Amino acid sequence: MDTHKTIFGFKIIFSVAILVVFMENSSSTVLGVSGDENLELMVGGSDNQYLSHSSVNHGIYELGDMEDDTWTMVQKNGNQFVVNDQPFYVNGFNTYWLMAFAVDQSTRGKVTEVFQQASSVGLTVCRTWAFNDGQWRALQKSPSVYDEEVFKGLDFVVSEAKKFKIRLILSLTNNWDAYGGKAQYVKWGKAAGLNLTSDDDFFSHPTLRSYYKAYVKTVLNRVSTLTNITYKDDPTIFAWELMNEPRCVSDSTGDKLQAWIEEMAVYVKSIDPKHLVEIGLEGFYGPSTPNRVQFNPNKYAQQVGTDFIRNHQVLGVDFASVHIYADSWIGQSISDVHIKFIESWMQAHIEDAENFLGMPVVFAEFGVSAKDPGYNSSFRDTLIRTVYKTLLNSTKKGGSGGGSLLWQLFPEGTDYMDDGYAIVLSKSPSTSDIISLHSTKITTFNARCSWKCRWGCKKKHLVEMFLHHDL
Ligand SMILES: *[C@@H]1O[C@H](CO)[C@@H](O)[C@H](O)[C@H]1NC(C)=O
Ligand SMILES: *[C@@H]1O[C@H](CO)[C@@H](O)[C@H](O)[C@H]1NC(C)=O
Ligand SMILES: *[C@@H]1O[C@H](CO)[C@@H](O)[C@H](O)[C@H]1NC(C)=O
Ligand SMILES: *[C@@H]1O[C@H](CO)[C@@H](O)[C@H](O)[C@H]1NC(C)=O
Repeated sequence: MDTHKTIFGFKIIFSVAILVVFMENSSSTVLGVSGDENLELMVGGSDNQYLSHSSVNHGIYELGDMEDDTWTMVQKNGNQFVVNDQPFYVNGFNTYWLMAFAVDQSTRGKVTEVFQQASSVGLTVCRTWAFNDGQWRALQKSPSVYDEEVFKGLDFVVSEAKKFKIRLILSLTNNWDAYGGKAQYVKWGKAAGLNLTSDDDFFSHPTLRSYYKAYVKTVLNRVSTLTNITYKDDPTIFAWELMNEPRCVSDSTGDKLQAWIEEMAVYVKSIDPKHLVEIGLEGFYGPSTPNRVQFNPNKYAQQVGTDFIRNHQVLGVDFASVHIYADSWIGQSISDVHIKFIESWMQAHIEDAENFLGMPVVFAEFGVSAKDPGYNSSFRDTLIRTVYKTLLNSTKKGGSGGGSLLWQLFPEGTDYMDDGYAIVLSKSPSTSDIISLHSTKITTFNARCSWKCRWGCKKKHLVEMFLHHDL
């Protein structure tokens, strides 16, 4: 495993370095000269020259500096994510507890471990909680009261992610009770004397809305104690997520949640216009699209107050999110029906993102629990392959399938946090191989000619060949 990691990591760094060399050279003079010959000259001559140059004269730091130039904000162009005018398809993962673990020196090392292991198989995006409302190691102890030590923990997560070239999707609160969430906001409201009758008052009560906004404002304006970079200016952050899996069962028309999304998406953008924003939805079809509810996993899904198309048409929302849990939505017993559901669920959302939303869609959580009856690891591998295969089918055509995030990656020794879905790479060689292979394919797509490519696609194909060349 170690050897494999090193080779993969080196390949990526080296490839990026070579691409940067191309970019710098292509800017003015080279373009005038006959392109292909120049490219071959560069590729042919650069290996030894470049390596000896960087290792003898400047060491690894020059590589690091050059990479820094390309460490810019992820943006959106139509159906695609882009970075530096190149496509940015996502192969990533979830590890929700990073901030809580980063607070304490005795557990902080696990944050580094999971980033290191993720990057060893080429994963480049991590989704994690940037909230902890009133619970164990809370960041927000009560409305507008923050624990500076926990904030420093979040600073660590962000700066550590960058070290491993991993970008973060940061979620801002929870629909569920874990780590506080909307139930905690309602408790705070009651303690302040508000007349609240349901946890869904989180979405509608003006005071609770103002608590949430104050929290968002504080996080986005946070200046990292480790890097001095304000979160809202930090390209390590891929996107803000309004809430993990919002549902509003008290209003099945969807109006209550819709109004909350409309207010909050614009609010986040008003503070931070640079970063992308997504809602955090599971992706259920609702009342606005009666012809699409057939794709839902069950009848109940259309009554939880969410509405995939309508919710994502809100101003300020940049891309769509969908979760995939065949086991908890259809039936726990493992079966082929799960795989069929995953294919049609993904395909339906990719088509909608293309035809109605004009935005990328990220399958931001998918996985299967080892506690399910009939589970074995080869089923999990089949499930992961299905998700990757369906995405590549879209990627090949420049479609809306923007990427996926495994639920969830754990380092060794954190089993006590496992809900059954954890993947420990060092214990799962076949799964690691599937993830690595997909990362390699995604890297190739990302290196492809974009709409602003300056060299022409023919030349770029040589770069791709180079990417596949075994060092
Ligand atoms: C609290 O709100 C509920 C529903 O909104 C209402 O029926 C009730 O009368 C209110 N109670 C008080 C003390 O205002
Ligand atoms: C952050 O800024 C302060 C004040 O300008 C400076 O003293 C400190 O060295 C900086 N820290 C880092 C990590 O750049
Ligand atoms: C794993 O589970 C699947 C689905 O239940 C089953 O079809 C397959 O035979 C199992 N494979 C092994 C090696 O047990
Ligand atoms: C690939 O995408 C096309 C639509 O672009 C769809 O009709 C087809 O079913 C997809 N195939 C797979 C295997 O997902």
